[in-house]
Amino acid sequence: NWTMDDFIDMKVDDIRKEVGDKKVILGLSGGVDSSVTATLLHKAIGEQLTAIFVDHGMLRKDEGDQVMKALNKDLGVNIIRVNAQKRFLDKLKGVTDPEKKRKIIGKEFIEVFNEEAKKLKDVDFLAQGTLYTDVIESGTNTAQTIKSHHNVGGLPKDMHFKLIEPLRKLFKDEVRELGEKLGIPHDLVWRQPFPGPGLGIRVLGEVTEDKLKIVRDSDAILREEIKKAGLQEKIWQYFTVLPGIRSVGVMGDGRTYDYTIGIRAVTSIDGMTADFAQIPWDVLGHISDRIVNEVDNVNRVVYDVTSKPPSTIEWE
Ligand code: XMP
Repeated sequence: NWTMDDFIDMKVDDIRKEVGDKKVILGLSGGVDSSVTATLLHKAIGEQLTAIFVDHGMLRKDEGDQVMKALNKDLGVNIIRVNAQKRFLDKLKGVTDPEKKRKIIGKEFIEVFNEEAKKLKDVDFLAQGTLYTDVIESGTNTAQTIKSHHNVGGLPKDMHFKLIEPLRKLFKDEVRELGEKLGIPHDLVWRQPFPGPGLGIRVLGEVTEDKLKIVRDSDAILREEIKKAGLQEKIWQYFTVLPGIRSVGVMGDGRTYDYTIGIRAVTSIDGMTADFAQIPWDVLGHISDRIVNEVDNVNRVVYDVTSKPPSTIEWE
């Protein structure tokens, strides 16, 4: 019957004993699990930890900067940020199949990580934010076959690190509590789930910089308005997608022929099944107005009213 403070003391102690004076690296995705792992390790071994933050350019608006501010600037975690947007976009050029996109992004992520890891000398340990649920899921046969859910930061096969997984016995809500205790900002710790391939699977079909911008900007508006309406903790996930279809509209006196944005918002317990969220019409209407007015090349907004099953939460 331990408290979170006991847990922190115990883990810090364990980590120090295990690591000694050796070096540790960690792949930071910007998500909750790797952020908490990094912060906990930093508390235990300080500068002996180097976190590698691969920014694949498909994060949400300002997300990379927020992670850097919270973990690096405010908490002092040693982070190498790799701005790899161009590399990922080059690899994704012409690719439209969702599973191919996932595989390319996952593979590229590991490659960028490995390249950075090789530049650091004498690293003995690799830390990962594996949770209890990850441990159980990989032990049984519940692995998703509908979509290949790669988790960024997979173990580089050709390097022989010893693994450190300090969150192995924890559930997500405990990890969040731990994160807050360690001083990670509330908003960062309580973020909605975000897929490893990021906005890359919310631009349907081929991913381009222009399309990423449309999704990123519309998503930022959606999140701002959901928060203002006080709904952010009632909805499991909410985001926008760009299906790539264009339709006719009218702005001022002129005809437009522009993109449609889809809003996806669901309630769920675990992401396995989901219902579309019943966001009030006036909130949706306001979001729609703002997206059409503020995001270039969008002239129509639709709301996704399907549940999972038969749909999935993400559109790809
Ligand atoms: P679906 O779309 O399968 O999503 O209903 C269920 C949950 O999984 C997330 N998701 C992913 N997470 N890599 C991830 O790390 C992926 O490729 C991926 N695809 C979907 C999705 O956001 C939702 O929370």
